[in-house]
Amino acid sequence: MTPKSLNVLIIGNGAREHAMAYYAELSPRVKKVFVAPGNGGTAMMDGKVSNVAIAATDINALLQFALESSVDLTVIGPEQPLELGIVDLFRKAGKKIVGPTQAAAKLETNKGYAKMFMDGNSIPTASFGIFYRAVDAMEYISAPNFKFPAVIKASGLCAGKGVFITLNREQAFKAIKDLFKDRIFGAAGDKVVIEEFLLGQEASIFALVAEEGETYKLFAAAQDHKRIGNGDTGKNTGGMGAYAPAPVVTPEVMRKVEERIIQPTLKGMRDEGSPYTGFLYIGLMIDENGDPSVVEYNARMGDPETQVVLPLLKSDFVEALWASVGGTLADAPWEMKEKTSVTAIVIAATGYPDEYETGKAVKVPGWVESFPASFLFHAGTRFEGGKILTAGGRVLSVMAIGTSLGDSIFRAYELAEVISFEGGGSYYRKDIGTKGLERK
Ligand code: AMP
Ligand code: GLY
Repeated sequence: MTPKSLNVLIIGNGAREHAMAYYAELSPRVKKVFVAPGNGGTAMMDGKVSNVAIAATDINALLQFALESSVDLTVIGPEQPLELGIVDLFRKAGKKIVGPTQAAAKLETNKGYAKMFMDGNSIPTASFGIFYRAVDAMEYISAPNFKFPAVIKASGLCAGKGVFITLNREQAFKAIKDLFKDRIFGAAGDKVVIEEFLLGQEASIFALVAEEGETYKLFAAAQDHKRIGNGDTGKNTGGMGAYAPAPVVTPEVMRKVEERIIQPTLKGMRDEGSPYTGFLYIGLMIDENGDPSVVEYNARMGDPETQVVLPLLKSDFVEALWASVGGTLADAPWEMKEKTSVTAIVIAATGYPDEYETGKAVKVPGWVESFPASFLFHAGTRFEGGKILTAGGRVLSVMAIGTSLGDSIFRAYELAEVISFEGGGSYYRKDIGTKGLERK
């Protein structure tokens, strides 16, 4: 019997979703790829890939589209549709979808819940308190033995902006006031987590989880660069670049992550009656002894990490996703490329993560397209009048594959250096991957 050829729907509009569409298109199993709503990059892909003008949060319209267009498999990029219950909705309608239910996605959408869950399941994480009122939070940080730096987080979804690293009481008071009194994140900040500041190196680990949380497969470990400035300075962003595999995650560290974090997380969620399925993202801090703690869970793949972990997957991405919704992930091919490293550098609009301009033409020299083992994944772009225009803060992810980390960094920068916006105004970090090189 010839295997079914699949229509795949990818939800989201970032470089993560462009990368998913790119690797889905390469799969011989795939007939069509729809991206909703997609971006300039997915609009320009030919053949099998097309954009669908439905927002990632319009989950009813997405279901209707999936039903009408014979979509076989839906894959979710961002967290918002998960919080809205897209997985529950699709499953009820008999449509196959890769992702966690609304209840399981609480690991990301409700940081207070995630902390209580880790506490209850002895999963290593920073010590913490949870607060619903400014006075209680103020009292907590005013205790004589309270230590700074301390991390103050809105419990709900804030697009990566709801985390304050505070160095003293004054900064902590301000964060508490911003969240509770000025409600800068609205209801997402009505519950607040205050936690210990962890020292070490960060890494992101991704698992594809299936069979009610009984089976999982691991991607290569990646390292993101969250701050806007070189040397990890300045504001937090959605992520300014990534590389994989991250040498800080040695096989020994990975073993600890599986035993102490991934397995107890999946078991804990089964015990809660909310078995986890889909992509599980573990944001880690690894201390000097190689002991990992959870900084955060996300219920999805990372951006820009997807742009570096997908190119390392040697086996067929869609085949594995299809197996994951069909109860056969345990036996599905899942192989990583050896002696290969990948680096992605985010080209942003100057001013990001604050105010920035949009609508500028992106200039890419012609030779870039034929530069081997590389790709420009689009994020904040739109395709209009035959031109690619900037339409967001993070505009492109320049990805290059190399035979070593150093090689992939060098090749990615060769490309980053020649990309510009008409009239200027582009920015990228100059030190993506250096921590990985130092490690080696
Ligand atoms: P989150 O959105 O929870 O991942 O936080 C954003 C970033 O803040 C993380 O990637 C870390 O760089 C930093 N961060 C969050 N929590 C902690 C913590 N407890 N200790 C040290 N850094 C943290
Ligand atoms: N790269 C961080 C994130 O996707 O949340």
